[in-house]
Amino acid sequence: MSHTAIAGAPFVAYRQNDLYLEDVKLSDLARTHGTPLFVYSKAAMLSALAAYQRGFAGRKAQICYAMKANSSLAILQVFAQAGCGFDIVSGGELSRALAAGADAKKIIFSGVGKTRAEMKQALQAGIGCFNVESEAELDVLHEVATRLGVQAPVSLRVNPNVDPKTHPYISTGLKGNKFGVAHERALVVYQHAARLSGLKVVGIDCHIGSQITETTPYLDAMDRILDLVTEIEKTGIHIHHIDFGGGLGINYNGDTPPPADALWAQLLAKLDARGYGQRQLMIEPGRSLVGNAGVCLTEVIYTKPGEQKNFCIVDAAMNDLPRPAMYEAFHQIVAVQPRAGSALTYDVVGPICESGDWLGRDRLLNVQSGDMLAVLSAGAYCMSMSSNYNTRGRPAEVLVDGAQVHLIRQRESAFDTFALESLV
Ligand code: LLP
Repeated sequence: MSHTAIAGAPFVAYRQNDLYLEDVKLSDLARTHGTPLFVYSKAAMLSALAAYQRGFAGRKAQICYAMKANSSLAILQVFAQAGCGFDIVSGGELSRALAAGADAKKIIFSGVGKTRAEMKQALQAGIGCFNVESEAELDVLHEVATRLGVQAPVSLRVNPNVDPKTHPYISTGLKGNKFGVAHERALVVYQHAARLSGLKVVGIDCHIGSQITETTPYLDAMDRILDLVTEIEKTGIHIHHIDFGGGLGINYNGDTPPPADALWAQLLAKLDARGYGQRQLMIEPGRSLVGNAGVCLTEVIYTKPGEQKNFCIVDAAMNDLPRPAMYEAFHQIVAVQPRAGSALTYDVVGPICESGDWLGRDRLLNVQSGDMLAVLSAGAYCMSMSSNYNTRGRPAEVLVDGAQVHLIRQRESAFDTFALESLV
């Protein structure tokens, strides 16, 4: 049987004229479970994780999956069973992670707006570390921990002021961003933290952005953070772990991020050269663990030729897969069972009443209504950012493992979307 691989989607391939994810024929899944449908490959996730694990062989490193990328319980379960911790940003994510079997000690809590209630919930669960993002938050955390009679383990998220060279909406380590404590203030803030009895300083953290495809911003940020560690430790405060955040990009459209192991070979060389190679390390990757593991299957409802544009109207929309509408992000779109013959250029759009509701622009496709398309690299920041806009139930989700198929989330019905509402 002929296999044709697809760049950027390592576990997606055509076998003859049918698109497969691992050993599962995607047209069969679409027929059984309906569309739009998210389908994830367990092997793709574990292989992405293995690249990090190879990179860290022989080191003390904890990988904390940034679950905002895809927080479906069964996805979390895959990573928890593989030994990962989790980077969370809300009390809701904490509840999810624990429900999926996470080890609380391997959970780190990031985010600029943690509430008292969330702090309490996380302290009671016994999480590993709070990545504190401001002085105000530090004081509140001290207060909450003191009231509970515990000490909160903390890192400060330091803003290294490094340009990650990515989309402005997803760069986070620049001076103008809301994230972290300014590099210049970090030492003073650490000294303040060390004096607060409700806190225990355990580490330092940074995260400079997302979909980063170059190594240099990471190397620069690392230099800035290690300079600080040296300064902080001179004052007698021990930095037990160093957390370098997430952010490594994936291949959406010919992007060429370094493989995780190659990136870490360079970063570890720097850590070794500066004498920090045996420190406890942490990272918070999200997209690079799940992005290329997922596809979104969608059915063509109508084709609509136009004077200026041809539209291919599909049953997935910006509520299901918001990245194109939000960031003008590019996702490859391919036919699940390609037709022979000539193709036309289409904008692939959803049924939502907004011109921003598009999934792909100017795509060469040979399609008819009833055909299935696959939107690729849809494992990260798609389902987790989905909404019920236009009272559209969220898609179902399926996890494939070899030839096995697991329905991991049922399709939401219209009733589900208004089940918490009441008439007056
Ligand atoms: N750690 C922190 C503190 C973060 O804020 C993020 C992502 C991560 C880790 C994981 O970053 P990753 O490895 O996934 O790049 N919705 C956007 C991406 C937003 C990223 C937000 N923070 C998108 O669809 O491109």
